[in-house]
Amino acid sequence: MTTPAPSSTDSCPVRTAPVTLSGPRFHTDPHQLYHEMRREHGAVVAVELPGGVPAWLVIGYRELHQVTSDPELFPRDVARWNQWPNIPPDWPLLPMVGQPMPSIYFTAGAEHRRHVAMVEPALELVDTFQLRRTCEDLADRLIDAFCGRGEAELVADFAEPLPVLALARVLGFPDEDGPRLAWTMKTLADGGADAQAAHQQFAEHMQRLLATKKAARGADLVSRMLAHPAPFTDQEYVLDLMAVTAAGYLPTADWIGNSVRLMLTDDRFAAALGGGRHSVGQAMNEVLWEDTPTQILAGRWAARDTRLGDKVIRAGDMLLLGLAAANADPHVRQHVSDGADPAHTGNSAHFAFSYGEYRCPFPAQEIAEVIARTGIEVLLDRLPDLDLAIPAQNLVRRPSAFLRGMTTLPVRFTPVRAVGGTP
Ligand code: HEM
Repeated sequence: MTTPAPSSTDSCPVRTAPVTLSGPRFHTDPHQLYHEMRREHGAVVAVELPGGVPAWLVIGYRELHQVTSDPELFPRDVARWNQWPNIPPDWPLLPMVGQPMPSIYFTAGAEHRRHVAMVEPALELVDTFQLRRTCEDLADRLIDAFCGRGEAELVADFAEPLPVLALARVLGFPDEDGPRLAWTMKTLADGGADAQAAHQQFAEHMQRLLATKKAARGADLVSRMLAHPAPFTDQEYVLDLMAVTAAGYLPTADWIGNSVRLMLTDDRFAAALGGGRHSVGQAMNEVLWEDTPTQILAGRWAARDTRLGDKVIRAGDMLLLGLAAANADPHVRQHVSDGADPAHTGNSAHFAFSYGEYRCPFPAQEIAEVIARTGIEVLLDRLPDLDLAIPAQNLVRRPSAFLRGMTTLPVRFTPVRAVGGTP
């Protein structure tokens, strides 16, 4: 693969080298890293992806708002990418950046709105009271599997399986399929040797579910998508079901993991660990500001030449949304000293779910909140003396610049009896 020449130039006369978008500081020390980037490069940073592929990382709150509010100028339209001639088929970020395909996640403009018009109302009809009861049962069942041991690894034993099992119920999978879907999603996310096979299985799960619901509708997401009057092909339904599950699973798992980590490492939340619940919501909101699951999102592609911040952007350039960095922008975080920091006051003007036409659908945000909050509340109710099993400084983050979550969260607690969750 040839290294492409940067397609865009800074307007600043002193050209700075692009920032390499990898390396441990993205997961060990992202806040300091973004602070330095802001100082040295401003709100829009020229970055280099693996293979020398150029892109822009938008780290300013105002600039990110500008990008996400203007879907005509900055559509999520990967087909426009001016780097396609330089991208080999085995480029490591290809699965994440995606390729044009007829799903809610990889279409733009009118075609994207056609998918949203079918998917979003179906998500809206999810009964959140029922979902909460489902999540209580699922959480109880997961905790039952380890509560007698007095120790657990909360990422693999709890935070990752809970959202998949809950989403499987929302979609309309029979109970016995939940664990298989959980295995598939975990294998896909791990990206190891089995990931390709897991992707194939993921599609097959969705094809079977679609066929089942076409034969007999029920009170589930797939049946409500099928009830939408506009015509969609089977491939479109399957791709949308895969998009909903893939978009929902890992961020919700990481929201749970990062919130529990915060509560176990920060004294301000110590009271909640005794069974109090009021701080759970506070910790979860703080995580969406400070430690949000999707740190960087690919992306948007410029529809024409334009300026953003002090940079010249060329048509087809890729913009990576620096959601975590924008959340930390001093322009919105300047009141820390007078106690009005938005991260600590229940303010939800963060970018955790992005913004604008392509943002995480509002009902999906609510579904994520119900799953995460219910899971954490049940965990703290059942294991009130939960504590880290290793020093906080030894906890390890996912080795990714894009996703922020714990690789493991080892805990210990006084062993308790199983309650026999009845999912
Ligand atoms: C903490 C949990 C979650 C986070 C942080 C999150 C975050 C995001 C982000 C950043 C985007 C991309 C928006 C953009 O391109 O501007 C997105 C899109 C999306 N999310 Fe979520 N999400 C979460 C949970 C969920 C759940 C539980 C579901 C499904 C029930 C879901 C379904 C979707 C879908 C379908 C899209 C594509 C929307 C579109 O293209 O119009 N998300 N999410």
